Order: sequence, then C-alpha cells, then structure tokens
Amino acid sequence: MSMQAKRRADYLPPAFTISDVKMDVRLHPTATRITSELQITRVSDHSQHLELDGDNLSLVSIKLDGEIFEDIEQREDTLIVRNVPDTFTLTIVNDIDPQNNKALEGLYLSQNTYCTQCEAEGFRRITYYLDRPDVLATFEVTLHGDKAQYPTLLANGNPVARGDNDDGTHWVTWQDPFPKPSYLFALVAGDFDLLEDSYTTTSGKSVKLELYVDKGKKSRGIFALESLKRAMKWDEDTFGLEYDLDIYMIVAVDFFNMGAMENKGLNIFNSKFVLADQRSATDEDFFNVESVIAHEYFHNWTGNRVTCRDWFQLSLKEGLTVFRDQQFSADMTSELSNRIKHVRVMREHQFAEDASAMSHPIRPEEVIEMNNFYTVTVYDKGAEVIRMFHTLLGEDGFRKGMDEYFRRHDGQAVTCDDFVAAMQTATDIDLSHFAQWYSQSGTPVISLTTMFDERKQVMDITVAQHTPPTADQSHKVPLFIPVAFDCIDENGKHYTDVDGKIKDGVLLLDAPSTTLHFTGVESPLIPVVLGNFSAPAKVNNNLSVEQMLLVFRYAKDAFNRWDAMQSVYNWCIAEFEKGQGEQIDDSVWNALSDVINNEADNHELLGECLVIPTFETLCQTRQRVDPNSLNSARSAFCDAFSIKLASVLKRVFDSISTDSYQYDQRSVNARRCKNVLLNHLARTEHGDSLVRQQYAAADNMTDTLGALKAAQGNLPDAFEALMQNFESEWNVDPLVLDKWFGLHATTERDDILSQLSLLKQHPQFTINNPNRVRAVMGSFAFFNTAGFHRADGAGYKYVTDYLLELDAVNPQVAARVVTPLTQWQNYAPAHQSLMKAQLNRLLGHKGLSRDMFEKVSKSLAFETSGEHA
Ligand code: TRP
Ligand code: ZN
Repeated sequence: MSMQAKRRADYLPPAFTISDVKMDVRLHPTATRITSELQITRVSDHSQHLELDGDNLSLVSIKLDGEIFEDIEQREDTLIVRNVPDTFTLTIVNDIDPQNNKALEGLYLSQNTYCTQCEAEGFRRITYYLDRPDVLATFEVTLHGDKAQYPTLLANGNPVARGDNDDGTHWVTWQDPFPKPSYLFALVAGDFDLLEDSYTTTSGKSVKLELYVDKGKKSRGIFALESLKRAMKWDEDTFGLEYDLDIYMIVAVDFFNMGAMENKGLNIFNSKFVLADQRSATDEDFFNVESVIAHEYFHNWTGNRVTCRDWFQLSLKEGLTVFRDQQFSADMTSELSNRIKHVRVMREHQFAEDASAMSHPIRPEEVIEMNNFYTVTVYDKGAEVIRMFHTLLGEDGFRKGMDEYFRRHDGQAVTCDDFVAAMQTATDIDLSHFAQWYSQSGTPVISLTTMFDERKQVMDITVAQHTPPTADQSHKVPLFIPVAFDCIDENGKHYTDVDGKIKDGVLLLDAPSTTLHFTGVESPLIPVVLGNFSAPAKVNNNLSVEQMLLVFRYAKDAFNRWDAMQSVYNWCIAEFEKGQGEQIDDSVWNALSDVINNEADNHELLGECLVIPTFETLCQTRQRVDPNSLNSARSAFCDAFSIKLASVLKRVFDSISTDSYQYDQRSVNARRCKNVLLNHLARTEHGDSLVRQQYAAADNMTDTLGALKAAQGNLPDAFEALMQNFESEWNVDPLVLDKWFGLHATTERDDILSQLSLLKQHPQFTINNPNRVRAVMGSFAFFNTAGFHRADGAGYKYVTDYLLELDAVNPQVAARVVTPLTQWQNYAPAHQSLMKAQLNRLLGHKGLSRDMFEKVSKSLAFETSGEHA
C-alpha cells in the first residue's frame, strides 16, 4: 500500500479519456461479476500506456476491440494495458466480494442491501477504471439480482428496460445521459418500502421523486420528502437552478461511513439523515434531515453538473454546497440560530484542526489518503470563504457570479481558481488578494488597540491581523478580511469612523493593520467586531466584563450580542480557574439575571445565550490546558450559575408553555430554551422532580432527550432510572438507541471505562456499523472530557486499543475517531506525553491503514513552537 503523498502542484491531465461505459453487474454476496465495456480515446502523448486504477479486484478477462488482450501487467493498485491504439473498446470482466467489504467503500452488502460508495476513490474497488474526477463518461448499467430477495434494482439515471431471467433473477437497465466522473456512480439492490411523490419545475418539467426506506419505516420518510421539495423550490427561486433528470431517488441505509452521497439521480443516505418523526427524532434531527437532503440535492449543480478537476479542489463543491445548504436552512428556519450553530462548529472543531498537525488550507497541497480530507476545514471553513464572497459581492453580485460560473463551466471538471475567476466578473474589487484564503491555512487573529484623547474627544482604534504559523506552513501573509465593525459608547450610541473606512458596517482589512479615527467621543468607545461572524477569525478585543455586558445590551447584530455573552462566561470560567470564582462581583450576577429577565420572551436568543461554552470552545482561547482543571472550573461555574440564578431560571422555565408537539420555528425555539433552562435547573433543588416530570410528560424525542441530558452528570439516580426505561422502550430502534449509547459514553463517572466495555457487549452493538461506533467510541473520545483525559492515561489507552481493532475493519471511520488523540498540542505536558505514547503504539502497529498512518505520523512529527495557538 502506498504511503506516498500526492501534491496539488503535480496535477497532470489524463493521457486517455473514457466517453461511454456499459456495465453489467451480476450480484452475488461473495462473487459479484462485473463486465464493463469502456470506449477509450487517447488525449495526449502517443508513447503512453493505459494505466487503470483497481483495488482488491479479481481480474477474469480483458478484451480489446473484442479480441482477448494479453499485453497487460497487474500491479498492486493499477492495471497497465500496453501498446493500445488511439481509440478502442476495452471489455473487462472482474469479480468482487461485497459481503466481506466492511470498509463500506466500493460495493458492499449489509443488512441484505447492496449499495455503493464511490467518492472519493471507491469506484476502483468495483472495476478497473480511470478513477479520477476529470474523466467524464455516460453510463449504461444493467443489474441482475435475485427477484425475491432484491425486488428493487437501482442505478443512476432513468430505467430503460427490465425483465426476468429463468433462474429466479431479474434485471433492470439504467441509462444516465449526463457524462459524470466515476465517483458519482451508484447502484442499490434490496427490498424497501417506497414513498413516491412528484415535483413540477418552474419550466414545467415533471420529476418523479422516490424515497426508499427500510420496510415498516414509511411514515418516518415523509419529512425528508417534503424537505426535498422545499430544496428544489428554493434552488429555483434563489439561483434559478432546476433539476435535470426525470427521476430523483433517495435510498436510506443503516451502514454508511458519512452523512450522505450525491450520486447522480440516486442519492444514498445514512438513514439518520432521512428518517424522522416526532416520537423518534429530536428537533435537531429534523433540522439535520432537511439540511442534508438539501445539501445532496444542491450538489446536482454544485458538484455534479460542475465537478472538480482533481481532489485538491474538493472545497469547490463542498464549501459552496455547504454555504448553499446553510442559506437554505436559514431561510427555512431562522438566521440567528443557524449562524450560531455553524460558528460553534468552526470554533470547536475547525479552529482546533487548524491548530493541530492536520492543519491544511481549504484547498490542500498534499494528500496521502483523500478520505482524510473531508474535513471541517474543507467543508465549513470552505463555506465561510464562500460566505465572504457573498459579503464582498452582495446578494446580487453573488448571484451574477454564480450565473457566470454555470455559464462557463456546466459539464466541466474545474478548479477553485475557475470559481474565483467567474466571481471576479461580478465585482470591481480585485479578488486576487482575497484568493489567498484558498492557499493559506490557520486562523487569523484580529487584535484591537484603542487610544482615547479625552480633551480632544477623539479616539483611534487600530485593527491588526496576524496568523500564527501552522503545522503545514510557517510563513503567513496578511489576508483580505471583511471585518464587520460597529462602535458603541456606554450609553449605546453608535459611531462610525470619520474617514469612511467602514463601509456599510464592514471594514475591508487588507493590510497587516489599519487605524480608524473617531471624533466627538466623550467616553471610550467599545468596538463591536465580526458581526454575524463576518470572517473565520479569532478576535482579541480585551474588553472588560462590564463592556461585554454593554455589547450585549446595545449591539445591533444579534450574533455579536450572543458572542458577548459567550465572552462573559469565558471570563467567569477563567476566574474559577484562578480560584477566584467566589469573588465574582454581584454586579455580574445581577447583570446576568437582568439578561434572563429582559429576554424572557425571546426564546431563540435566550436559548442560545444560556448555553455555556463547551470545553472544546474554551480550549481555543487557552494554551496547554490541564483538561481536568478546566473541566472542573467550567462545572463549578455552571453550579454557581444555576444556584445564584435559580429563581429567575425557574420563573422563565415555568413561563414557557408546552403545547402538543409541532415542528415549527416558534415551538422549536421554545423547546430549545426550555431544555437549556432545564439543564441549569438540574443542578438545583428542583432538579430531580423537574427532570422526571418532563421525561414522563414528553410526547416527543426532543423533550425526552432534554430530560436525559439534564439528568446526566447532575442526577445520577434519575439518570440511571430513566435510561433503563428508555432502553426498554427503544431497544429495537437502532437510530434511537444510538442516542442512548451516546449518552452513556459521554457520562462523566469514575467507572466509565467499564461502562464502555458493557456498551460494547450490548447485543445491539457492532463494530461494523459506523453510527454505532461513533455513538460509543466517537462520543467518548470527542466529548467525555473527564473520561478521555483521565490523568492516568487510561482513557487514551482505551480508545487506542479499540482503534487498532477498528482500523482493520473500517479505516475511514478509525481515522476520524483518532482525531482527539492527534490534537495533543492543546494540553498540558503530562497529557501530551500520554497521548503521544498511544499515537506511537498506533504507528508501530503492523498493517496500519493509510488513513491512520497519515494522521498519526503527521501528529507525531508535529513540533509546536510557542506561537502555535
Ligand atoms: N460528498 C459527500 C457529501 O458531502 C461526502 C461523502 C459521502 C463522502 N460519503 C463519503 C466522502 C465517503 C468520502 C467518503 O455530501
Ligand atoms: Zn457535500
């Protein structure tokens, strides 16, 4: 197996291309036979042989223009076909073993369903091919399978013929008229319940919609289908983009490595992002279903019609499609809570990735295993970069740029530079400096320094940027950063700078620093920056806690208000870390009480503002964290918060009426606020009875889970009892049981490691199901701070033992769960060495996958200088 890195700079166009593919697939659990007929044309240099990708395939035969061809060489992951003409037909027959494919890449069989996952490089596990996104071909696929066991046979495009064979099998032929790269290939065979619907596009085309779910789960698919229609309408209204085929199919499967996959006309989904009803799914689950359904649908234009030239360009489709799904979700639900949700992901996960050995630009320069680069950087920071285009160009300019992008590149495989060039046509701003965001990694820090002259009543605010070096790049350049900028005085009056550097509330910072001048200033101004998180940056604003509270009170931007509260909590927790928590002034507690009282009817803002920053977020503003003291300080603050504010928290809790369940924004906000309040109240004398009452009365999963989460960690007896009840009610429902597994795995208790061992022995646990593995080991490693970071290192060792087992089964998932271990640089030296000891164990393991090798070796090679944040 090659551990060699590929570099973006080494891109070469393919020597051959494939225009049409005809495939015949005879499904069999351990010996599926693939016959693939490829129309191949040479597109460059005459001297080159044809090199096809292939992985784990048994070659049966190969013919060139119908004649057996023997001038070939089989290497580990390529098939070399020598001395071929300029244009020819190659017919390849090979066998594969779907039943023993536990990596869930290529064609696999699980729970009696055959399905495929080809992105990024999984097609080469099905047959020999030019498995790269810049080779686009039309596909015609004929599937044969047992008629009784697999009544449904699906592939991309439209069904054109079907029939029965004499041996109990049947067959269906599918044609996809749109040339596509192999990563968008898909097939499915199984026995499903089918939800059917249709959608008529603005131009009058009728599209059949089909949603395939497990037998008996039909009613749980309704919401997904409704979401799909909303997404189709939204893309027409917002971007003028219509669907192109006659049929759009979605299949939900239980065994899936990621969220979902945008295969042309045949999306395959993790059932977690399809199935939802009031009883089994939380409001958050509903939200996620709608956003993932939309994400995959939006890929039809941003990903499929215009695809990536090579995998280094992944953010071209992912960053853009995440941005599109975020805008859609904001329009369907609410802008503020969406924005906060995504900022949390950036701060908790993306900033941490950029500070770690895995730091990479949104367009990576060097890759060993592509599966490792489906990251929060490529996806979420990528979406933030698109959002900055949107800010710079404005709504209309952005639409104009998108139109130009599709006009130029429909049907092509292109680069991020092509996207920037299309956007450039829609603005006078020179985007070449802005484009540095594609090549520079790391999180910029924006620092503010102020000078106030009381006599002259003037104030200067200097805004400076600095990006600390990262693991992959020691030298950084100043970026082009849109910094939303507001300024207030202590009475809430707003100011703007005399030179007009701030335009429409935004300062375009394109130099290392700039100074803003303010006049007519009677008392020091408070800068309010990065409204609506206008750039993926950190801010060093040095405000006092009183000033933060003024920002909450007077800022125009709701995100800034929420962020100010986060800063207040961060400051309080720092006081607890210094052992000075008890000395926090009453004025602060009174101010917090006022916030709750004043916003009591604004459930959306209050619900968000009452969430205390997570451990992971707190780590981003601290260095060499001792996990247990930070965790204890956070917990002590939460205790003080709930005790001191108990009466106002209880009053607001009681004021929120719980009508019977509905999934609409007003009710979602109310439930969210109520559950956040319950979490605080669980630490008070009312806790036990409130939690049990809510659990007993709940008619929906949001409130059920809210009660369990409130009990977890605060009310061990109630937690035990309710969890037992929950298990007996939901034991047969895998998606719901994952919540139960996750709650157990994240509970902080001394015997957590033996608890984890019990979970692994649970009859519903299996290492072959990624959702289950993530629910137990992923939740533990990412979110059980006290357990994972035990001072004796037993948490690290426990995860490592498991990863060794998992890596042999499913390297892609193993390489995700290892992430928290690779981020050792966040922690105090004692923890660093314990974590590195386990990473060394992994690295020394014979047969470690390429996925794990890349992350573990990078992590161990990472030298931190003082400056790495
Ligand atoms: N393109 C998919 C998405 O973002 C991501 C994806 C699904 C994926 N399955 C995968 C990526 C397996 C790598 C491997 O919607
Ligand atoms: Zn995607």
